[in-house]
Amino acid sequence: MYKIEVKNVSFVYGQSTPFETSALTDVSVGFEEGKITGLIGHTGSGKSTLVQMLNGLLRPTSGQILLDGKDIWEKPKEISKVRFRVGLVMQYPEYQLFDDTVRSDISFAPKNMKLSESEIDERVREAAAFVDIDEQILDKSPFELSGGQKRRVAIAGVLAMKPEVLVLDEPAAGLDPRGRRTILGGLCEYQRKSGTTVILVSHSMEDMALYCDNIVVMNDSKIFAEGTTSQVFSRASEIASVGLDIPSIAHIANKIKGNGIGLTGNLYTVDGVLDAVLREMKGGR
Ligand SMILES: Nc1ncnc2c1ncn2[C@@H]1O[C@H](COP(=O)(O)OP(=O)(O)OP(=O)(O)O)[C@@H](O)[C@H]1O
Ligand SMILES: [Mg+2]
Repeated sequence: MYKIEVKNVSFVYGQSTPFETSALTDVSVGFEEGKITGLIGHTGSGKSTLVQMLNGLLRPTSGQILLDGKDIWEKPKEISKVRFRVGLVMQYPEYQLFDDTVRSDISFAPKNMKLSESEIDERVREAAAFVDIDEQILDKSPFELSGGQKRRVAIAGVLAMKPEVLVLDEPAAGLDPRGRRTILGGLCEYQRKSGTTVILVSHSMEDMALYCDNIVVMNDSKIFAEGTTSQVFSRASEIASVGLDIPSIAHIANKIKGNGIGLTGNLYTVDGVLDAVLREMKGGR
């Protein structure tokens, strides 16, 4: 079942100006409830534009966004309610921190939701723990933190809303492998515990393989491919035709299969392929 669905959506920046740019062309795609869906595509393919449609930050030039089957723009005056239900972490969110302390930054949205002091306090601590921000950091100024810590504080601010849908636009961009694992691993754990529907924009196919149930590939303002992670990775040559590459380990698995060796299961992470090869060597047991 789709938690949130994009139906025949087109979007044009700077309509009727010399800068008119078509960023989405008749896009239709659904995001399954309780799953992590990865959104990938080359620079300028329309990913950030698409995700800003999901919480009503941008309004489609034509088409609809359905949340639980209902058009989010049915009552435009109530669009702010959608922003609490669909939490969006924008690209480079660390530049949006503004409060005196980390604690007050993370509690900004829960305060706006008019929750009690104790509920706010609990949410702040819970959200900080998921992104590995220690208690003693909560009373520091966000400007004293490292780039990676700032990013995690910004993500905690959206987690503290406990949104039904969590949308993250390149949350791990520009971080080293350990920073990526802290953020993406923490988000994965949050998703498993909360059952939230997650949409994760990334340039990394390795991240898609490790963390996503489903993948949507965008190209040139349109949806190019969609399906489960294994379905999408089995279409290596089509994916390559739009300048993207599946993880090396998935190439190796496809080649082994091409030689008539029947590997099954998760064939796009190192551990998954190792398991499949060992199973096959032991005679399929
Ligand atoms: N504020 C804006 N004003 C005008 N054009 C824009 C604006 N933001 C994006 N665009 C254009 O819309 C198209 C889609 O951009 P978008 O930012 O959605 O792509 P993206 O897939 O997120 O790219 P990236 O991987 O670089 O983040 C591009 O042609 C881009 O130049
Ligand atoms: Mg973008």
